[in-house]
Amino acid sequence: ASFTDYQAESATIAQGVVESNHAGFTGSGFVNYDNVVGSSVEFAVSAATAGTQSLTFRFANGTTVNRPMTIAVNGTTVQTTDFPGTGAWTTWQEISLDAPLAAGGNTIRATATTAGGGPNLDRLRVTGPGDTEKPTP
Ligand code: GCU
Repeated sequence: ASFTDYQAESATIAQGVVESNHAGFTGSGFVNYDNVVGSSVEFAVSAATAGTQSLTFRFANGTTVNRPMTIAVNGTTVQTTDFPGTGAWTTWQEISLDAPLAAGGNTIRATATTAGGGPNLDRLRVTGPGDTEKPTP
């Protein structure tokens, strides 16, 4: 499998805190976004070659309210993605989108667009171009 995992708790966090009080996360914890517009997590992602890659965000949202976030690569918005309720803060789900990465270093930022802030964010999985293996749930 040619994917790389980036833990949210190791990323650059603006308006959020690392927590570990809801089971089921990978790594050592997750990011609890502050409940404000503009709270964000930025991952430093390395790509061997330029091209479209799959970005898979693992998250939990224990509310019934969507917590959309804008996904930006190297400062350019790719799309605003829904992070709907998952049923419980201990129920983690994945959402994937495709985005073009540059060769070398990239920044991938997920920024909350509503007053609820972002969901709890566990990790980002980046799957290389041409890889047909799907991320594990
Ligand atoms: C609860 C929950 C947090 C979550 C927060 C929220 O406090 O324990 O993990 O981040 O709600 O609504 O964002």
